[in-house]
Amino acid sequence: MTRTIAIVSGKGGVGKTTIVANLGLALASLGKSVILLDADLDMANLELALDMAGRPITMQEVLTGESTIADATYEVATNMKFIPAGVSIEQYRRVDPEKLAKVVAEVSTQADFVLIDCPAGIGRDTMACLSAAKENIIIAMPETMSAVDAFKTKMTGEKMGSETIGLAINQIRKIRGEESERDMQTMLEAPIIARIPYDNDLKISILEKKPLFTRKPNSPAMIEIAKIAAHLTGIEFKPPEKGPGLLQSILSKLPFGRKTEKPNSQATQSAKQTQQATKLAMQAKVIQGNKK
Ligand SMILES: Nc1ncnc2c1ncn2[C@@H]1O[C@H](COP(=O)(O)OP(=O)(O)OP(=O)(O)O)[C@@H](O)[C@H]1O
Ligand SMILES: [Mg+2]
Repeated sequence: MTRTIAIVSGKGGVGKTTIVANLGLALASLGKSVILLDADLDMANLELALDMAGRPITMQEVLTGESTIADATYEVATNMKFIPAGVSIEQYRRVDPEKLAKVVAEVSTQADFVLIDCPAGIGRDTMACLSAAKENIIIAMPETMSAVDAFKTKMTGEKMGSETIGLAINQIRKIRGEESERDMQTMLEAPIIARIPYDNDLKISILEKKPLFTRKPNSPAMIEIAKIAAHLTGIEFKPPEKGPGLLQSILSKLPFGRKTEKPNSQATQSAKQTQQATKLAMQAKVIQGNKK
């Protein structure tokens, strides 16, 4: 049976999007069919983590009823497809998040796993994610505030009928002041399914526009993310010892981000907006760099 899993957090910026992208690839490499759905409708960036920015038809067109789910679905790699969220602010205002459950129900007939990248917090969009997904994984940093907010998210999940599979602690630095694993577990009342270290390779992955899974499958963070895939499938993930290895070669043979767009004027507009947002983000980065 298809597992529909919302990847959630209390605080923002803890690593949900990064984990969705790389966990999806790890599951796909284990032979599972996966659909990644970006439900962070106002701050979408899963497309950047997958180097798939600028797809013309997105969840926004699906949720306003202008396009079909098939039109908004793009192939990323063998066994893995992706539905972007889109960045149009005008369109977002017309989106009805309640319809998300219908979309999830429909795509769940096409894959073993549907992973939903959710917004931070417990606003209407997160609630829509949690009510659409039967299960959830909570991501938190090893900090008291992150854990407390994660607990609120877990409680919200319970109210919406979504069961927490476990907690993935991300960006562990092993420095003084970090919340201990045991305290995090006690606070959240959920099993810990991954302990992901702070890993600079993840930052480089974003710069190089290549998910960590394809760029460095042996990196400490990727090995921990892959443990979530093992937890979900019962299949042990064995990263290649040297060279690209089987898993990486499966993916590198593929056209990362194959184009299947069927443009219409609204969709082209949305693509332009995504490209513009990416350009602005790049400019901001340059400005920030110059200030240093
Ligand atoms: N283990 C890690 N080590 C180092 N950097 C990380 C790690 N995990 C995530 N990051 C970085 O932290 C930042 C935030 O990650 P990401 O966008 O995945 O978080 P998010 O929870 O999806 O954020 P938001 O709530 O805004 O959607 C990114 O720059 C990402 O590269
Ligand atoms: Mg995110």
